[in-house]
Amino acid sequence: MTDSGATLAEGDFSGLSAYERAGLEGKDPRCIPIKIDAPLPVGEAIVAPEYSKAEHEIWAFLYKRQCEILPGRACRAYMQGLEALQLPSDRIPALSELSLTLEKATHWRVARTPGLLHEQDFFEALANRLFPSTDYIREQHELDYTPAPDLFHDVFGHMPMITEPDFADFYQRYGQASLRATGANRRKLESFHWFTVEFGLVQEDGEPRIYGNGIVSSYQETFHALGHEVEVRPFDPEAMGAQSYEVWHLQPILYVVDSFEALKQGFEDWAGGQLGLL
Ligand SMILES: [Fe+2]
Repeated sequence: MTDSGATLAEGDFSGLSAYERAGLEGKDPRCIPIKIDAPLPVGEAIVAPEYSKAEHEIWAFLYKRQCEILPGRACRAYMQGLEALQLPSDRIPALSELSLTLEKATHWRVARTPGLLHEQDFFEALANRLFPSTDYIREQHELDYTPAPDLFHDVFGHMPMITEPDFADFYQRYGQASLRATGANRRKLESFHWFTVEFGLVQEDGEPRIYGNGIVSSYQETFHALGHEVEVRPFDPEAMGAQSYEVWHLQPILYVVDSFEALKQGFEDWAGGQLGLL
């Protein structure tokens, strides 16, 4: 909510999201949410930009590097989703084509966003099974980590999991609940999103595996998330909703869920029951 931030006293960031606080603290402007005033182009209406050779090369580098380290670390659903998307290894894919794949898999579609969306617009899109994706790629000096969304994060990180039916349903329900949430509940849902969609782990064959897109799209986080420095806690929506985090460093605490069915059901029970949002 960049518009509301201007009315706050200096240093009073209570009630703002981590991204909003970052924006007000003068950090990367790509982290400042955008309020859209016209519908985003969706599916076949998305026109792909002309990418430079250097931009395609950044994609190729990131794609190769992650594909080498994800097998055995990322969960099966993510790896199957990656396979289903048939991402090219040497060039940036077109969002319009990815939208068709998601539509066939789980009736989601892709909307092209000019940047990080204002949360109301973001939730509205999710509630309508629309995934807002950027179409620009990070710069050469940001290969290891970028706190702002770019298409590698959105496409390679987010889209594979949206092909998983329970995750896809959960994500829509998340959008619906968030649209109804205000105040403290909104903040709880934002933290829950961080510890699931962005940085979630799932138990598989007795071991935690990665599904959070902030991890699968980051070289450092992929190693860090399954290493000894991270405190892995059991899935607990209320605790996750209350847990603080910040977007600029490797994550010290992660939560592991038993399955995507458990994620969907656990969210329904929490957001629909305790929070009264569904
Ligand atoms: Fe993300």
